[in-house]
Amino acid sequence: MDKGSSTVLPAPASGQPAAKVGYRRTTVWKLSLTAIALLAVSQWTAIKSQVGSQAPIQVPIHAEQILDKCRLLNVKPGPPEDFNLRKSSDRFVPGTKPTLIKNATIWTGRLNGLEILEGDILLQNGLVKSVGVLDDTSLANLRAEDLVEIDANGAWVSPGIVDMHSHLAVDSSPALRGSNDGNSRHGPVLPWLRALDGMNTHDDAYRLSISGGVTTALVLPGSANAIGGQGILIKLRPTAERSPTSMLLENPYSTNTSEYDPHKYFRFRQMKHACGENPDRVYSGTRMDTTWAFRQAYNKAREIKIAQDEYCSKALNGKWSGLAAEFPEEYQWEALVDVLRGRVKVHNHCYETVDLDDMVRITNEFEFHIAAFHHAHETYLVPETLKAAYGGPPAIAMFATNARYKRESYRGSEFAPRILANNSLQVVMKSDHPVLDSRFLLYEAQQAHYFGLDANLALLSITGTPAQIIGQDHRVGFIQKGYDADIVLWDSHPLALGATPQQVWIDGIAQIATPHVHQKPEQLQHAPRTPNFDKEAQQTLQYDGLPPLLPEHSDKSVVVFTNVSEVLTKSAHEISVRFSARPRTGMVVVEAGEIVCAGPEAACGAVKREGARFIDLQGGTISPGLLSFGSPLGLQEIQGEASTADGYVLDPLLVDSPKIVGGERTVIHAIDGLQFTTRDALLAYRSGVTAGVVAPKAAGFFAGVSTAFSTGALHSLEKGAILQKDAALHVSIFHGGFPGVSTQIAALRRLLKGHGKGALGDWFERVVDGEVPLVIDVHNADAIAALIRLKEEVEEELDAELKFVFAGATEAHLLAKEIAKAGAGVIIAPSRPFPHSWEQRRILPGPPLSEQNSVAALRAENVTVALGISGAWQARSTRFDIGWAELETGGSFDKHAALALATVNLEKLLGVTRGNEDLVATVGGDLLDFSSKVAAIISPGRGLVDIL
Ligand SMILES: *[C@@H]1O[C@H](CO)[C@@H](O)[C@H](O)[C@H]1NC(C)=O
Ligand SMILES: *[C@@H]1O[C@H](CO)[C@@H](O)[C@H](O)[C@H]1NC(C)=O
Ligand SMILES: *[C@@H]1O[C@H](CO)[C@@H](O)[C@H](O)[C@H]1NC(C)=O
Ligand SMILES: *[C@@H]1O[C@H](CO)[C@@H](O)[C@H](O)[C@H]1NC(C)=O
Ligand SMILES: *[C@@H]1O[C@H](CO)[C@@H](O)[C@H](O)[C@H]1NC(C)=O
Repeated sequence: MDKGSSTVLPAPASGQPAAKVGYRRTTVWKLSLTAIALLAVSQWTAIKSQVGSQAPIQVPIHAEQILDKCRLLNVKPGPPEDFNLRKSSDRFVPGTKPTLIKNATIWTGRLNGLEILEGDILLQNGLVKSVGVLDDTSLANLRAEDLVEIDANGAWVSPGIVDMHSHLAVDSSPALRGSNDGNSRHGPVLPWLRALDGMNTHDDAYRLSISGGVTTALVLPGSANAIGGQGILIKLRPTAERSPTSMLLENPYSTNTSEYDPHKYFRFRQMKHACGENPDRVYSGTRMDTTWAFRQAYNKAREIKIAQDEYCSKALNGKWSGLAAEFPEEYQWEALVDVLRGRVKVHNHCYETVDLDDMVRITNEFEFHIAAFHHAHETYLVPETLKAAYGGPPAIAMFATNARYKRESYRGSEFAPRILANNSLQVVMKSDHPVLDSRFLLYEAQQAHYFGLDANLALLSITGTPAQIIGQDHRVGFIQKGYDADIVLWDSHPLALGATPQQVWIDGIAQIATPHVHQKPEQLQHAPRTPNFDKEAQQTLQYDGLPPLLPEHSDKSVVVFTNVSEVLTKSAHEISVRFSARPRTGMVVVEAGEIVCAGPEAACGAVKREGARFIDLQGGTISPGLLSFGSPLGLQEIQGEASTADGYVLDPLLVDSPKIVGGERTVIHAIDGLQFTTRDALLAYRSGVTAGVVAPKAAGFFAGVSTAFSTGALHSLEKGAILQKDAALHVSIFHGGFPGVSTQIAALRRLLKGHGKGALGDWFERVVDGEVPLVIDVHNADAIAALIRLKEEVEEELDAELKFVFAGATEAHLLAKEIAKAGAGVIIAPSRPFPHSWEQRRILPGPPLSEQNSVAALRAENVTVALGISGAWQARSTRFDIGWAELETGGSFDKHAALALATVNLEKLLGVTRGNEDLVATVGGDLLDFSSKVAAIISPGRGLVDIL
């Protein structure tokens, strides 16, 4: 609008088109008679002034609707007071039988997560009808109604899990070109977009996530925009209607709209914001640009809001004269105006101090509240900044240990949850599904607890707290009379490693048709007694998020471990017990990194030396150091920063290596790109992963030769740093590449049949000689079958015996027998399967969806099987991965078999014959569970004990 014109129509703050506001006496005469006539019939009606003046006051013909809007302007969202007196859920499915879960140990989430009840829960009409023991009359009446009775037998029950950050349905799985609906690329500011409009109802993950206890999710647009659009709250269960609309947590009252009647009650909306690195994906901007994009957008919304407030303050008082014919609003901006009205829960992807500070300033400039900072890896460093946010500090939604994938997450700390909680900030653990599989969101809470977050807050972090933050704590996130019947019955204490649902109810409907449940050991029926990490948490703050990770001392003389319950060692491809004192404890004496005595104190006491260092393991154990494989561990510091990493091997199917490297004869060796003391390697070391095998990072078909290294060494020239210069030869066969799978296999055939030249030829000759394993990254069962045929063909033709190892191998379980017959090995990576891509969609999910997991299925056929990882940040969690995989196989938890998955079996498959002789001493418990902490690494190779 041209403000300088002399014939101006009044310029409303909202920037309405001029024609719609042309009513003033001073301007009306300038319009044509037709226009006046039209205005008179369409927009206006004249009434007598109520103050008795003779001049008629013009009132818009839609005055009633406008006044209705005005009255609703400042209504705050929230349920009616009698909400929990409802007799039936708006999501109740008629015909659902009432269910009684009897004799449960009920964690209700109430009383700050401290209430635990023993008794029964009645689910009826989609609601929790009662918590406690029913009297006989009620029971008899219910039985007449076809009551379903479940005997929990004392097992733990919790509210359904609420995932506050998911891209389920908008980034659906398996990922296809047609299913990327998470990010719009149409600009930095898009508050008008709605995740609901992109929701794929055929995502494989609904069923999987439910099987992990997730019942409600906030589905958010991605983070490629400063303002990415509106999120939606869904329940994950299938509906009879099969539509996205029917999955909405809050019933839209009609299947043909997502709108609702605001007069019934006003509902919170959810909106995604993002700062920092990600928004520059769609427009090449800097942090300064993004911040301006926010301010510009909020300024626009504020102008509209002010115009509305001014308009309504007059209209509600009958002062129509001088008011526009239409209520000042703009369809595009209404959602952002609603943020300023406090009716939208803003979910802000925001990591670093600089970004958090920017956003906090913006909230104060425009006066709106941020419900939660998500990812938020540096929030624990700046609690005071968070507290300065307008309307109070946001909650913090985090991963437990996923960090260092870009600069923004470099200072991410496993101690963030406990530090934030200690600052009275609300902690939420989230999945960012499919970044983390939300089926295992519980594991994020378990790890937060392991690293020091109180048990009650850890459980609340995935139930009651997110329910409150999204404005739904009147119906989900707690077990309480009148709440939605979203309930999980667990097979162990939910904070125990590997806790798995026995059944999940959503809206009172059991979700798992035939749950496969394994009996869990008694010690898992209690919250784990976790170690003390006070010193580490303190140091994390002291060093601004980057505490030193090198061992505190390296002791080359005598170290005496007391109060040791067991010593396990490796021998000839087996884990064996060197000494067990259980249930009592004994002593282990180490000299220059070698165990010189392990036995009862009486036996080893004599070996003790003057000046020896004593370490009390408090009933802990000594066990073999673990090996990590599958990620770029040792080749990178920050995944997303090329300048911190070795980089990629060129794909020889697309382009020859430069001549100077040797052209098509080239074989790249990972050892040449090794980096030591990366934070992921040191964290792995401190978690009992004493060695890594890493292959060069492949951009395509061919990777090169892997190397085995010590995760605790300072540099490659240090004694014991390189365990084995060359381990295995690595290729990958994958769908979606160019050229395709059949071409990749054709290339492999030629190379195996001796057509490779130079070093490449030599290395394949060594494979054919059975001297070096060929490790093939492959997920798809058909591709594995093709490789088995190739193996047979080559073996027959060349009278050879090849060592094939399938790594990744998500679908290997489909060919367990054939793999066994072919004498091939399998490294499952990652250990818990997820159908990220089409070629890995046929997963064997494990309990409760299947009796077996892949480890069990392959081992049943005597395939040598090991576990790997995919991201370097996961190396530190190997101890829990193998413990968990073994728990899933059922029967009694066999620690030796679990350890083999990341020690002897992995070494055998990767051709690591020398080296990883390190031992790990844990305080307080076994290496494989949540009760222990690694205290020291005993290294015969380096002749020392590292004390952590
Ligand atoms: C509840 O289950 C526990 C654990 O199995 C059992 O000891 C107890 O007797 C059961 N109580 C009732 C009332 O059935
Ligand atoms: C669509 O929704 C409107 C408003 O709730 C309702 O009046 C109408 O009957 C619905 N139509 C259908 C086909 O469901
Ligand atoms: C909690 O914060 C206080 C300071 O406010 C500090 O003294 C204490 O060590 C912290 N405790 C933990 C467990 O982090
Ligand atoms: C061994 O550790 C246990 C568990 O921490 C402790 O109760 C016990 O006192 C310790 N015994 C000795 C002899 O230090
Ligand atoms: C696996 O090996 C065990 C022990 O050698 C043997 O008893 C069993 O029959 C084998 N199973 C199969 C399916 O070959």
